Amino acid sequence: MAVKQVNPNVVVHAAAHIWATESTQGPALQFHQSLPGYAPTELIDVPQLAQELGLGKVLVKDESARFGLPAFKALGATWAIDKALRALSAGPDAVLVTATDGNHGRAVARTAKLRGLAARIYIPDGVSDFAIQAIADEGAKVTRINGDYDLAVAAAAKDAEETGALLIQDTAWDGYEEVPSWIVEGYSTMVAEVDQQLAQQGLAADLVIVPTGVGSLLQAVIAHYRGQLAEAKVVSVEPDTAGGVFESLKAGQLVSVATKTTIMTGLNCGTPSSLAMPYILQGLSGSLLVDDREARAALAHLTELGVKVGPCGAAALSGIRTLMASDAKTELGLNEDSVVVLLSTESAEANPI
Ligand SMILES: Cc1ncc(COP(=O)(O)O)c(C=O)c1O
Repeated sequence: MAVKQVNPNVVVHAAAHIWATESTQGPALQFHQSLPGYAPTELIDVPQLAQELGLGKVLVKDESARFGLPAFKALGATWAIDKALRALSAGPDAVLVTATDGNHGRAVARTAKLRGLAARIYIPDGVSDFAIQAIADEGAKVTRINGDYDLAVAAAAKDAEETGALLIQDTAWDGYEEVPSWIVEGYSTMVAEVDQQLAQQGLAADLVIVPTGVGSLLQAVIAHYRGQLAEAKVVSVEPDTAGGVFESLKAGQLVSVATKTTIMTGLNCGTPSSLAMPYILQGLSGSLLVDDREARAALAHLTELGVKVGPCGAAALSGIRTLMASDAKTELGLNEDSVVVLLSTESAEANPI
């Protein structure tokens, strides 16, 4: 069945969950379990949301405290940096470089600090002073770029090329795929935990909603479920001002969009990762756009319910609301028995609005 646009903010691909691929679930989980401070993040059952939305269960995977940082990003950075340093037999002089909307850069800066390495972080417009200061406080050198996320990525790549620093970027393009593929492997720990936590309650996910920027987290989630032929369908949610994945799924190929500012800073990316694209085009069951007003309302509602989320995490709730209010609900077979997992990828402290 083909990709179908249900309304201006909803695209569905009803047959995508039949696609099978190789799982990227590698040894990352074991690696994370061996790190100091590892603990599975909470999977919070929110029955009020299930009732409101007419679903069986709604559970929030709360990434507000992961390895002491207020977002999930250290899952990718720790594993990719470990693999990259080993692959290059890099010594104590190695310098790590990356571009970031905030959270990834902080995770790279923290990991560099813990390993006694230097880090240089490039930051586009639209990132809060708070997030920038948090990266500087990890001891990294911060450079602000007068431009969008794609420009910051280009600046980080240029730095690495000119200086021999190690580029730890969480998005891929032609010729730069190895490190991002390790970052994706690292992210898969999040969904491995979700499965274990659901299994303990005798449950399995029917749908997972993924806040999406470049699509690396999305790739990890799609590969995880399509790699084990599980039931779970995977749906992305992006700001309506940065819908690169939405437009790519519609067009059947990688599409870049121009971005504007959004409170969902971590999702403010115009160009999807090239590595994620085959997963998006074949294994993504739906793609959603939400605006800042909807994200704010979802954030307030989750806070009221006692679930601490940041704007990117709130996007997942806005997404399921958008989906349930559209014909995509039927297309994806969602009903009062469905088990839905919302990935809440950051805390309110990561990106205060
Ligand atoms: C809080 C948060 N959620 C979700 C994402 C999306 O991840 P990806 O860019 O891999 O799609 C990011 C990325 O920076 C993020 O910071």
